Amino acid sequence: MTNLLKIDSSARRTDNSESRYNSISKQLGSWFVDEWMSCNHPDSLIQRDLGLNPPSFISQEWIASVFTSQERRTPEQHALLEESDSLIDELDQADVIIITAPMYNYGMPAVLKAWFDQVVRIDETFTFDLARGDFPLEPIMSGKTLILLSSCGEFGFDPGGVREQMNHLGPHIGVISKYLGVENFYEIRSEYQEFADSRHQESLANARKEIIKLVNRLS
Ligand SMILES: Cc1cc2nc3c(=O)[nH]c(=O)nc-3n(C[C@H](O)[C@H](O)[C@H](O)COP(=O)(O)O)c2cc1C
Repeated sequence: MTNLLKIDSSARRTDNSESRYNSISKQLGSWFVDEWMSCNHPDSLIQRDLGLNPPSFISQEWIASVFTSQERRTPEQHALLEESDSLIDELDQADVIIITAPMYNYGMPAVLKAWFDQVVRIDETFTFDLARGDFPLEPIMSGKTLILLSSCGEFGFDPGGVREQMNHLGPHIGVISKYLGVENFYEIRSEYQEFADSRHQESLANARKEIIKLVNRLS
């Protein structure tokens, strides 16, 4: 059985009375999960909507706690790390991680960055050893697949596209994903939302086709 973890990060909901206000990235996530479950039932699914329930930002006390060995942590420090502990537990159980993300200011939403800051944690998801030379960090987890399903208002963010250099969403997540134990990274993106024309409809339809193809390939 494969365990799926779906992390949504748009501030927008999916149940607005006017459907044009609904989150597109969350829609891509639902298509992915529906297709996955129809091919691979009864795989398990944990879902977290960071847009509706944002994770805490890390603090000076949080950093001090993670750098204190487990045996020496005070009860307050243990309590402060409970949120991070449970997010890391969810990650640990996952074989396939689906992150749905809007592009905000050419990068990821703050709530998603807050989630990464909570889960990429020393001696939990990575080790740090200067004996490794200039690249002292190594992931602890392994073998995971990450699918990023994203939506943006503009277009041309693919390699070779007119806005390739402005894309700090997929490339950023691709780099950090190593520390989640990700070994296979895929991105499917819908573009042109702000133009609301046929190019957007076509991009969304293509994203749906790509999702179906990817699920069939991974199943
Ligand atoms: C605060 C904010 C910032 C945005 N910044 C960008 C941007 O930098 N580039 C872009 O192409 N679209 C940008 N957009 C448009 C969104 O990426 C687009 O509306 C996308 O569909 C949002 O995802 P969602 O439909 O899942 O909510 C922005 C939208 C918002 C609300």
